[in-house]
Amino acid sequence: MFITNDIKYIGVNDHKIDLFEGQYVVPNGMAYNSYVILDEKVAVMDTVDQNFGDEWLANLEAVLEGRKPDYLIVQHMEFDHAANIANFMEKYPEATVVSNARAFKMMKQFFGTCFEDRQIVVDDGSTFSLGKHVLAFVFAPMVHWPEVMVTYDTTDKVLFAADGFGKFGALDVEEEWDCEARRYYIGIVGKYGMQVQNLLKKAATLDIQIICPLHGPVLTENLGHYLNLYDIWSSYGVESEGIVIAYTSVYGNTKKAVEKFAKKLEEKGCPKVVVNDLARCDMAEAIEDAFRYGKIVLATTTYNSGVFPFMHTFLNGLAERNYQKRTVGIIENGSWAPQAAKTIKNLLSECKELNYCENVVTINSALDEVSAAQLEALAEELCKEYK
Ligand code: FEO
Repeated sequence: MFITNDIKYIGVNDHKIDLFEGQYVVPNGMAYNSYVILDEKVAVMDTVDQNFGDEWLANLEAVLEGRKPDYLIVQHMEFDHAANIANFMEKYPEATVVSNARAFKMMKQFFGTCFEDRQIVVDDGSTFSLGKHVLAFVFAPMVHWPEVMVTYDTTDKVLFAADGFGKFGALDVEEEWDCEARRYYIGIVGKYGMQVQNLLKKAATLDIQIICPLHGPVLTENLGHYLNLYDIWSSYGVESEGIVIAYTSVYGNTKKAVEKFAKKLEEKGCPKVVVNDLARCDMAEAIEDAFRYGKIVLATTTYNSGVFPFMHTFLNGLAERNYQKRTVGIIENGSWAPQAAKTIKNLLSECKELNYCENVVTINSALDEVSAAQLEALAEELCKEYK
């Protein structure tokens, strides 16, 4: 695939994968991107997943047209990109690895060698010439590992963005960018909003025409759209108006209350109501929705003096990703000692700027007149701004 006259795509599509990073379902597979810059010197940008070494090396051979690569530039040592470093170095004994000190330390851990006699160590802000193309390295720690750096080709104005601006899904499947990029970002990088903000500030000083991420499509148009979404996500801002209800239910009574509640929200003018059954939906999708919308309602049974296990997992998923700046409503259910509301607040105690609704719904086994009135009051409180 042609990116610019000198930059070619040599990545691969993975449709065999069951869970990306051992936990994320990827119904449309995954792409591991890699690029070649053909100049006086030839540089390869990252490798691919371990199952695709032969295909990747064949893709590389095809664009080299008999030339040999001079450099392998390693931006990220996670194994979906780094697995084939040793294979590459074996195949091209004249090549040199270009990366930073932290990455070389990890290389040694993964491969037992960091190619001491064939390495160039670069610093944050340093530049590297391939001839016509001058590359500038920008360290991006924790986007998404500590050794990550991105690379700006000052000649073609291309940002090689490592995991940044990546998404789930192979490149031979057409799908909307936002949804699977959001699920990818919130799931994988969501905790590191501050670090992404730092990177965006540096990126704002560059004239970027093309973004080449390590996953997902090469972005060539309307870059403001993607940059804006990354700004919202990394600052924990609200992307879409609406209310998301995340619930668990054992015998269906909490579910019935949630269905009634969702209808009320719609009737009261809420522009979008999203309902996620945490035991049955994709947990990563539910977490993504929590970050997308400004308001959330958590509905759950009391269980082992806490909350139902799927709700526990969900709340942990929010807290560990620095969930913040949201309005939170609670519907708790319990047949003898409801205490889900207390547990929810404890589990989210580290989250900043959560605004809990005054009205809490407490259901004793099934909705009755009292809890139905609480449900109405909570809906009213959440929807007053929509009137
Ligand atoms: Fe795509 Fe952090 O690896």
